[in-house]
Amino acid sequence: MSRSAHPAGPRHADVLPEGHYTAPPTDLNALDPKVWADTVTRNADGVVTVGGIEVTRLAEEFGTPAYFLDEADFRARCRAWAAAFGKDADVFYAGKAFLSRAVVRWLKEEGLNLDVCSGGELATALAAGMPAERIAFHGNNKSVEEIERAVSAGVGRIVLDSFQEIVRVAHIAQSMGKRQRVQIRVTVGVEAHTHEFIATAHEDQKFGIALAGGQAAEAVRRALKLDGLELIGIHSHIGSQIFDMAGFEVSARRVVQLLAEVRDEHGVELPEIDLGGGLGIAYTSEDDPREPHEIAKSLTEIVTRECEAAGLRSPRISVEPGRAIVGPTAFTLYEVGTVKPLEGLRTYVSVDGGMSDNIRTALYDAEYSVALVSRTSEAAPMLSRVVGKHCESGDIVVKDAFLPADLAPGDLIAVPATGAYCRSMASNYNHALRPPVVAVADGEARVIVRRETEEDLLRLDVG
Ligand code: LLP
Repeated sequence: MSRSAHPAGPRHADVLPEGHYTAPPTDLNALDPKVWADTVTRNADGVVTVGGIEVTRLAEEFGTPAYFLDEADFRARCRAWAAAFGKDADVFYAGKAFLSRAVVRWLKEEGLNLDVCSGGELATALAAGMPAERIAFHGNNKSVEEIERAVSAGVGRIVLDSFQEIVRVAHIAQSMGKRQRVQIRVTVGVEAHTHEFIATAHEDQKFGIALAGGQAAEAVRRALKLDGLELIGIHSHIGSQIFDMAGFEVSARRVVQLLAEVRDEHGVELPEIDLGGGLGIAYTSEDDPREPHEIAKSLTEIVTRECEAAGLRSPRISVEPGRAIVGPTAFTLYEVGTVKPLEGLRTYVSVDGGMSDNIRTALYDAEYSVALVSRTSEAAPMLSRVVGKHCESGDIVVKDAFLPADLAPGDLIAVPATGAYCRSMASNYNHALRPPVVAVADGEARVIVRRETEEDLLRLDVG
């Protein structure tokens, strides 16, 4: 990550330690709209509000830690993506970022499609009434049972991930008397500039079938021969939290090249390509994400240009943003429990959650921002590390951030941009109770995923 240690500035220790931070913000009470959900603001009393409700009230009613999701922002982002790509393209929200029945209903109402990658996500989508034809089913190791459920529900497409799966899905569809619409996921050999664990299109990893060595062309050959399959296109997903469009360009170019080879060999023009998800969001003020309309413009232009050059009709494009839709719409609210200054290092601020509600910092070295939200403060900036309550020193939520030096137990702090891959990757480590997700809109807050209880934990423990 690109940030470097700050040379000097207000601080609580004489020497600032190495870390991933820049200058302390000039105003610690300011809320950078880049990282906070749309309706988040500070009221005249200095209390932060979302959807018109004070976080202090939310904490009283729903407890902490909790995720608060700005429904209006979520819906606006869905609409922006749908409008950017227009009627000749499809936007599939990637449910792995965060999925619940309410989310499915919002997607349905806003005209988006849904990408699921497990039986559980499929069950949630169907339970909330997403029409099956608007669902794409992903995964590198779908079970026979999952494939049977997807085919019998009539999902719009299954994205095939291996040679074995081509045969498996064909066989299942045929035995049900169906012809399943499928895409083949290819790995285009792009090294996306992101963390190694979330880059997916280089060749040495588990997803997809490589374009290199003619593997993907062979997969197409096999799929076209099978009666149970209707091959509708090629899929490529190059990774996550990507800002640079260059990787998508290369990916689109290579996928179009495969379409041209398929046309030359089989006389078939596959009608669709999916360029996956992976568009980055702002976790801190340093990040500068692209707007959906810029992304749509640049992807459409590349595909059109490459198709013209290859003499192909432009295929229908689809994309699968997860993080870019839900990520910025939520923040996690925590109560400060302990404040421990370590002389010459930083102050450790312990909150009532941690790696069980946000594993991304520990797992990917992710960076987040944080703010005091229950009041304003004019105290000096204090280099802080926000940590959880788990029995593990890597239990870090925000590695390096400035909080006011008068921070005290009982204050509420919030970490923005936690809508994606936080609740969906939450765990029960140390028998933590996973926090609720509360949707806030127009002065009303309602729980869409409730807080876990000790009864929930004990219910699974049948020994
Ligand atoms: N499509 C496919 C096939 C995917 O595998 C993914 C993410 C997406 C779309 C959505 O990507 P997005 O737009 O949300 O970046 N847990 C990691 C990210 C792993 C993403 C896995 N696949 C994280 O917390 O950053």
